[in-house]
Amino acid sequence: MLTITTAHQMHSAVAGFRKAGRTIGFVPTMGALHDGHLSLVRAARAQCDIVAVSIFVNPTQFGPTEDLAKYPRPFERDHALLEAEGVELLFAPSVEEMYPARATTFVNVEGPSERLDGKSRPGHFRGVTTVVAKLFNIVTPDRAYFGQKDAAQVAVIRKMVRDLLFPVEIIVGPIVREADGLAMSSRNVYLSPEQRKQALVLRRALDAVEEAFCSGQVDPTVLHERAHQTFAAEPAAVVDYIELVDTDTLEPITGRIKLPTLCAVAAKIGNTRLIDNTVLHPRK
Ligand code: PAJ
Repeated sequence: MLTITTAHQMHSAVAGFRKAGRTIGFVPTMGALHDGHLSLVRAARAQCDIVAVSIFVNPTQFGPTEDLAKYPRPFERDHALLEAEGVELLFAPSVEEMYPARATTFVNVEGPSERLDGKSRPGHFRGVTTVVAKLFNIVTPDRAYFGQKDAAQVAVIRKMVRDLLFPVEIIVGPIVREADGLAMSSRNVYLSPEQRKQALVLRRALDAVEEAFCSGQVDPTVLHERAHQTFAAEPAAVVDYIELVDTDTLEPITGRIKLPTLCAVAAKIGNTRLIDNTVLHPRK
């Protein structure tokens, strides 16, 4: 595996592979890799000739009071995991490389960027789309892999790709969970053993919504209430949002559920903000 730290080096590495007719699959990450990330790497491995992974803790997607400084950065471990997956290219740039001095150009997908996590974390998605646009320019992948775990991020990136005509296919991998149902996240390491148990309330709330939906409940207000009731039984969790929204526009569903609907939750356990979601598929 070749570790590359500059855009210039990455361009020449990719140009070589392209000349040889190879397809390139790309998995952008912020490191602290777990099986969720690795599932995307494996999907890329299965579908593309060359796999590129980036590790970059992107400062512009963190709010001023968020965990940028303490975000885990186990680089040696991540490097070994990617090597073991047979990844060809690891892109690990510095902040200065990604944000040249006095850079004032940002990518903002108006609409979905202000919803869900974008509502509670103003500017978050502007940071995400800006860095992903830069990474796409640097890696020029044929396919890029994202996790359904960050469903709002998927909606925002899909729209950016359509709006800006990026010649890349977006592939979305399913949520990878721990054995007890907690969605894997680099932030789970912040949880104490007690909080780790309390965090299961996110999955329980989604289960309650799914159960009601499967027994024929299609009123979003009632489904919403089911999730709230589940959270009420776990006072350690502070709900940020519980939303039933259109999977593409992230606009709230009103009236009965007719189309695939994203049920997304975000809650804080102590200082750790966790997210999870499920998609409800109405029967025809
Ligand atoms: P990060 O949180 O490191 O996640 C990298 C990718 O792994 C994202 O596409 C995310 O959705 C996916 N992922 C995380 N946990 C997952 C899980 N449990 N199951 C499946 N996929 C999972 O998302 C980011 O980084 C950043 O915003 C980034 C896109 C790299 C831009 O900075």
